[in-house]
Amino acid sequence: MNTLDEQQRIAQLRKELHEHNYRYYVLNQPTIDDQQFDFLMHELQDLEARHPEMADPNSPTQRVGSDLNGEFQQVTHRYPMLSLANTYSEQDVREWYSSVKKGLAGEEFEVCCEMKYDGLSISLTYVNGRLTQAVTRGDGVHGDDVTANVKTIQSIPLVLPGEGYPDEFEIRGEILMPWSVFERLNKEREAAEEPLFANPRNAASGTLKSLDSRVVASRQLDAYLYYLLGSELPADGHFENLEAARSWGFKISEGMRKVKSVEEILDFINYWDTERKNLPVATDGIVLKVNSLRQQRALGFTAKSPRWAIAYKFKAERECTRLLEVTYQVGRTGAVTPVANMEPVQLAGTTVKRATLNNEDFIRSFDLHIGDMVYVEKGGEIIPKIVGVNIDERPIIAQPVQFIQRCPECGSRLVRYEGESAWYCPNDAGCPPQIKGRIEHFIARKAMNIDSLGPETVDEYYRRGLVKNVADLYTIDVQQINGDGSRTKSAQRIVNGIQKSLQVPFERVVFALGIRFVGETTARLLARHFKNIDALMNAGLQELEEVEGVGEVMAKSIIAYFHNEENLSIVNRLRNFGLQMALSEEQTAATSDRLSGKSIVISGVFAHHSRDEYKLIIEQNGGKNVGSISGKTSFILAGDNMGPSKLEKAQKLGVAIISEEEFLKMIEE
Ligand code: IVH
Repeated sequence: MNTLDEQQRIAQLRKELHEHNYRYYVLNQPTIDDQQFDFLMHELQDLEARHPEMADPNSPTQRVGSDLNGEFQQVTHRYPMLSLANTYSEQDVREWYSSVKKGLAGEEFEVCCEMKYDGLSISLTYVNGRLTQAVTRGDGVHGDDVTANVKTIQSIPLVLPGEGYPDEFEIRGEILMPWSVFERLNKEREAAEEPLFANPRNAASGTLKSLDSRVVASRQLDAYLYYLLGSELPADGHFENLEAARSWGFKISEGMRKVKSVEEILDFINYWDTERKNLPVATDGIVLKVNSLRQQRALGFTAKSPRWAIAYKFKAERECTRLLEVTYQVGRTGAVTPVANMEPVQLAGTTVKRATLNNEDFIRSFDLHIGDMVYVEKGGEIIPKIVGVNIDERPIIAQPVQFIQRCPECGSRLVRYEGESAWYCPNDAGCPPQIKGRIEHFIARKAMNIDSLGPETVDEYYRRGLVKNVADLYTIDVQQINGDGSRTKSAQRIVNGIQKSLQVPFERVVFALGIRFVGETTARLLARHFKNIDALMNAGLQELEEVEGVGEVMAKSIIAYFHNEENLSIVNRLRNFGLQMALSEEQTAATSDRLSGKSIVISGVFAHHSRDEYKLIIEQNGGKNVGSISGKTSFILAGDNMGPSKLEKAQKLGVAIISEEEFLKMIEE
């Protein structure tokens, strides 16, 4: 073949492979077998390697992923990604239906009923039929650009096979890990003694956030799309728009129905309540949407969610199974949690073998015996719970569960502090899960955010003796990590990640230390109050209690932390390694008393900062963030879609409404 022929062949192969993908993953109607597919794919890969001038980010070969994705870029959503209000009963559904009817002043309306997929939401942008960007929900206003990873999901078209689509549009949906893939993955992890994923949603989320898109490609994620946005949509009906999207090549649920009465809605719910168990992916409810976009606009939004849509959540599923054994887990703080090990039982799509028993009192309250038949429930949070015991089935010889007295990990005698429900292992310096737990807490996203490390790597480094405490992290180098010499690139990434954490602000360093009872918010308040680590280390009981949210128990815990020799040595080493041990000049300068004495309500969705950031800015400038509007409210910091009831109340009480831009100016002056 000459160059021109080869270029034509590339174009043709791309077209064919896109088509085969679509037939296989969206239509479920392949026309060639896997071997033929691989053959064509290899041919294309070879040709593309010879023709770099024809590189195309949307070529079918790009679905295999690469390890070149840096960190994710943050992107501002063109339309914020809101969530839906939840309801749990027939009554709630009827009330929502009536409120829509009222909102539309009696005008007729249709409702589109859909499955509520339990994965993670994604927003896809298509320009001229080509996927240009895929962004996660994030905080609803900004999300992570995960385009490279999403391209590996075979059912998401890179180039639309159909026609008639607008030049530019967004389509939103849910990324899911099918049950079959989830179960296989967890089996593999169990065999490798890696921590298991609690449910397919977590597994999909962990996968999508992987920085190596080859990992994503290997996990076989799927996606269903359910919301089309843009200025030139084909129809006024949501259902009709999704049907159009189906014809352009998207995977849209087959179960979607348009109905005209609340009775039909309830029939749909009842049908899927059982039928959903036969679906290949996890669902946790039904979504109801007013079909006409015109009517949707008339109904509008509250601060958090649309009034034209609602989610009905299925009830938790319950099963009965036998309690075989109680084992005990030791957490980062030394708290010992009893775990029920049961005969495996199928519950809400997964096999359940373990459930948390919380603490000794919980076990007593059920008078649990080994061999008991227990009721297990899986609610929205998916970690199974024991909710009851069938005493009638208790074997005659059954023995009551006796809480252990010694730590299962290090053998220390357990202690129970006054007023607490948990037993603790007091050997914090020598008990492995406590040590590893503290390191895991230290690297967590909200602490030092060292995302190049994870629980598996921490475990490995601990076992290899590379790290025994958080300060040791700053001593490891590429050579040490890369023991057998096979992982230079990832070792370098880990070391870079650790070094990057030197920039993490002081308030998060305080949180990362893992002082008992000191959560993220208190850590921030402590950092702002004491301004540097020395002042915090030397603070007495009274001074600590001056900080909002710090009571006696927490103050004592902080003092105890800084009186412990080992902790002092860790803090000193961290300081020498260059961690931020004081507020930055910028942070100190940012504090002012411009808002002193002001009570401010935050409402709506913002473009420049998240709500939490605005809370912080208010605090930094001496103001107070309050939850509800009253005569004492100084003003409302209002973003988009502020709820009308708040608006009405503000007007009635004569409270000023300040826009995001006005507020930012106010802070700058
Ligand atoms: S519509 C403005 N439809 O549930 C409405 N969401 O709490 C946008 N979800 O964040 C969402 N299945 O991640 C919609 N058929 C469906 C859905 C669905 C699952 C998720 C989505 C959203 C959350 C709402």
